[in-house]
Amino acid sequence: MKKKDSRSKEWTGSKKSKENHPKKKQKIQIIESKENGEKAQKKNSGKKKKTSTGQKKQEKQKAYTRHKDDAQLKGGRSSYRNSRHLFGAKMSEQLEHGENVSSLAYEVGRELGLSDEACNDLIVAGFFHDIGKAQISSATEGKNTMLVEEMNSVRQHPRVGYDILKRHGFSEEICRDVLYHHENMDGSGYPESLEGANIPLGACILRVCDVFCALIQDRPYRSAFSPENAMKMMIEEVEKYNLKVFLAFQRVLHRSPDGSISMPEVRPEVRGVWKKL
Ligand SMILES: [Fe+2]
Repeated sequence: MKKKDSRSKEWTGSKKSKENHPKKKQKIQIIESKENGEKAQKKNSGKKKKTSTGQKKQEKQKAYTRHKDDAQLKGGRSSYRNSRHLFGAKMSEQLEHGENVSSLAYEVGRELGLSDEACNDLIVAGFFHDIGKAQISSATEGKNTMLVEEMNSVRQHPRVGYDILKRHGFSEEICRDVLYHHENMDGSGYPESLEGANIPLGACILRVCDVFCALIQDRPYRSAFSPENAMKMMIEEVEKYNLKVFLAFQRVLHRSPDGSISMPEVRPEVRGVWKKL
């Protein structure tokens, strides 16, 4: 069977959606970026000294920013400002996504009858599941020739997240769920292409919640899908998800008396999870 990322389905429908395929769009943006870079280089060739000074300043600023990131990652308890900074430029989008995944994962855990401890772990793992992206994006920032490398690098974010959370003393269960939150039941996920029962239950819960929350959120390259369409897309690829988890996830989202799909409210304890870092 041809392997596909769970979110690739959304781009296989209409001609219009193919034109807006994130990979295609990314390529277009990168080509444009290269062209702009070449134009800028030609334009500035007569004032080399000035450009060189500007570049040095930019590099210094980037180095300073990375240093600050590293210092915050290595530090103990962070302030909310620092926690926000960990998520970088896409901070608000990442925070919102983290809160949604966290709250939904908690409810799915409850629906499955998991213990209080396991459900509370899901709150933490859900909130921090993509924290590895912060370090990845810093490492690849400003490098125009890292297309393939950058993609491979981004696929390492679960492992980077695992290491960050481990360093900060989070439990093995939380770290492990973050490490495997992109694994699929059919073995098409990453970073270890685990299959079936080899994937921890918490990671299976994060996987389902992560995909759904990502689909219903606006992204730079597309608008949010309606919850109904997001659900249909996930059903089409249901072989990737733990069925028991998927059914619990559906029951949570269909709790509304009118049968419509509704996200659970962000739990109060989710707002304080950043303090644990
Ligand atoms: Fe992720």
